[in-house]
Amino acid sequence: MFTLITTHGRARRGTFSCAHGGTVQTPVFMNVGTQAAIKGGLSAHDLKGIGCQIELSNTYHLHLRPGDDVVRAMGGLHKFMDWDGPILTDSGGFQVFSLSSLRKIREEGVYFASHLDGRKIFMGPEESMRIQSNLGSDIAMAFDECVENPATHDYAKQSCERTLRWLERCKAEHDRLVALPDAVNPGQLLFGINQGATFADLRVWHMKEIAKIDCDGYAIGGLAVGEPTEVMYEIIDAVEPHMPQEKPRYLMGVGTPSNIIEGVARGVDFFDCVMPARNARHGKLFTWSGTLNLKNEKYKTDPLPIDPECDCPVCRSFSRSYLRHLFKAEEVLALRLAVMHNLYFYNKLMEKIRNALDEGTFESFRARYSGRLE
Ligand code: GUN
Ligand code: ZN
Repeated sequence: MFTLITTHGRARRGTFSCAHGGTVQTPVFMNVGTQAAIKGGLSAHDLKGIGCQIELSNTYHLHLRPGDDVVRAMGGLHKFMDWDGPILTDSGGFQVFSLSSLRKIREEGVYFASHLDGRKIFMGPEESMRIQSNLGSDIAMAFDECVENPATHDYAKQSCERTLRWLERCKAEHDRLVALPDAVNPGQLLFGINQGATFADLRVWHMKEIAKIDCDGYAIGGLAVGEPTEVMYEIIDAVEPHMPQEKPRYLMGVGTPSNIIEGVARGVDFFDCVMPARNARHGKLFTWSGTLNLKNEKYKTDPLPIDPECDCPVCRSFSRSYLRHLFKAEEVLALRLAVMHNLYFYNKLMEKIRNALDEGTFESFRARYSGRLE
């Protein structure tokens, strides 16, 4: 269930609820736990302490290991990882293309070799829906092809026509699965995904077509794959007017804090990105006055927290000097604390965006931070 509370230009402030957790406040950032764990050694319990509202896991990874049959036997992903809030699972449509080798795309689906052991696997719309049904996530994503950048208009056209046919198959299989008496999560929702590479005509055509299929939300995929940021914004600008107003919109895999502010300004409600966790593992930390690199010599005896403006569990207790030492000594604690701070920062960013929307000050918030928080 998605409810719009208020709009500010095209920016939207809303609430969302699904089979698990209470009311999610949007715009929201989904914290990434690809393999049912957050990189840097955080568990679902840690997510509670850093303001996370929705967790995101991956169909592709969990199908390969431990196997979605194992997760189902353990009662579903919520029980398996002990997270009782909302979970969104990505469909595998992106990971098959970015991680596996020897892939062959056919009308029925994708044949590929596992990035773990080379095992040959087939995944199509029905398989992806069955895996996500076994995982019992609250939001299943449609199986799509994320077209490589750059792509020709001809290829992108054929691909997004196929992704549309795949969505029709996803919808039919999803409808069947949620109605089964032994469904792990009978309340599971399905989001469709817009594709069409960097071609506005294809993007708009595809969006209009997928909007005719009754999905619970719509995502924009295939962006932040190497195209210039301005092109990404132009595509969102082109697609957004054709996305149903009353349903949530999700911009997949985006992005920097500035990208998120610009996404909100263009009418997006949901975001996810590996960037905060990935940067943290390299010692790159977000602060309200820009990023800092903890490995830098100048923090050797710096008694300040990572960000004096931050009230996360890490900044309340530890100095830059101590964290720098942990990085230099390659202690696993360095990664854990750095990831915790960066995820807290992203969740706080969303809270500030929501407050600005509530107070009618979003444009001044945007002017203050957009472009300055890379
Ligand atoms: N994550 C980031 N981009 C994409 C995309 O285009 N498709 C899917 N399924 N996941 C994504
Ligand atoms: Zn902090």
